Amino acid sequence: METQTPALSSQIDQLRIEALSAIAEASDALALKEARVRYLGKTGSVSLLSEGMRTLSKEERPVMGKLLNDLRTTVTAALDEKESVLTIQADAAALASIDTSLPGTAPGAGSLHPLTLLVDRAVQIFRRLGFAIADGPDIESEWHCFDALNTPADHPARNEQDTFYLPDGRLLRTHTSSIQIRTMVANPPPIRIIAPGAAYRRDEVDATHLAQFTQMEGLYVAPSVSLADLKGTIEFFFRELFGAGTEIRFRPHFFPFTEPSYEIDLRTEALGGKWMELAGCGMVDPAVFEEVNKKRGDNAYDPEKVSGFAFGFGLDRLAMNLTGVSDIRMLTENDLRFLSRFTA
Ligand code: PHE
Repeated sequence: METQTPALSSQIDQLRIEALSAIAEASDALALKEARVRYLGKTGSVSLLSEGMRTLSKEERPVMGKLLNDLRTTVTAALDEKESVLTIQADAAALASIDTSLPGTAPGAGSLHPLTLLVDRAVQIFRRLGFAIADGPDIESEWHCFDALNTPADHPARNEQDTFYLPDGRLLRTHTSSIQIRTMVANPPPIRIIAPGAAYRRDEVDATHLAQFTQMEGLYVAPSVSLADLKGTIEFFFRELFGAGTEIRFRPHFFPFTEPSYEIDLRTEALGGKWMELAGCGMVDPAVFEEVNKKRGDNAYDPEKVSGFAFGFGLDRLAMNLTGVSDIRMLTENDLRFLSRFTA
């Protein structure tokens, strides 16, 4: 049988020369793409040539196969290289039209969130009274959030409907009062702390409720701390925050971890002159001290020797009133048009 190898191999050489010069001449991305299709596409020249392989003898096939493969590799490499050259040229051309001597666009500096501003102000006031900042984890044990706070297992606050439980039994703290416990377990009295932080409840989110909100806890434990100290501290704080004309009202209430307990209402012209409910507070229940002592393994919080007060404010409602916002969700939406109104 007559060998076809020389004919085919010269066709391959021919095609290589043709393809490489077409690629070299392609002056833009479109022309290059056309060249790629013309030579490497499904019905391109290289593929057509490969079909000719079928007529070859067994001995010739591998030789020609290799030549064709080499051709394909060479053409592909030339296409790729030309493509990157064209990209670099196109980028340079685009940049050439930019006037780098023009002034840039200044990035916005941002501003503090109204809640952050409120927390900062509150912390400053309490610092002047000698309160230090304390902290605790958002993911809490049931013991820190409930048991140690004299809140037994059948208390409604522990209901699954109200609380986000994790599969391992821990939960997202329902109030910052757990930080009272953490602070006392870790430190002997005297204690004088405030603790701003997030709290979580399974509330339906609407204009006045969020499932995550911000509280500020306070705790003062020392020999002979009295209800008068609590009242004086609260009044001082809110008059510093809203002005001397601010009225405070203590309404008897119930919390498992304070006795007696109160809710605090406040009225000030700065907030529209209406009574608003702001906080819970009370004298630390001796049962809480006993539970802390058990954990500590000592009697540092002897209810006969120390007493204390605790309070917890909801900060979101305060921030709403201060900023005149009617929908609490605006505090979480990070809408810059809203936030930029409150730059410090
Ligand atoms: N933890 C209570 C709440 O979230 C508030 C509170 C704090 C009450 C401290 C008394 C003492 O409703």
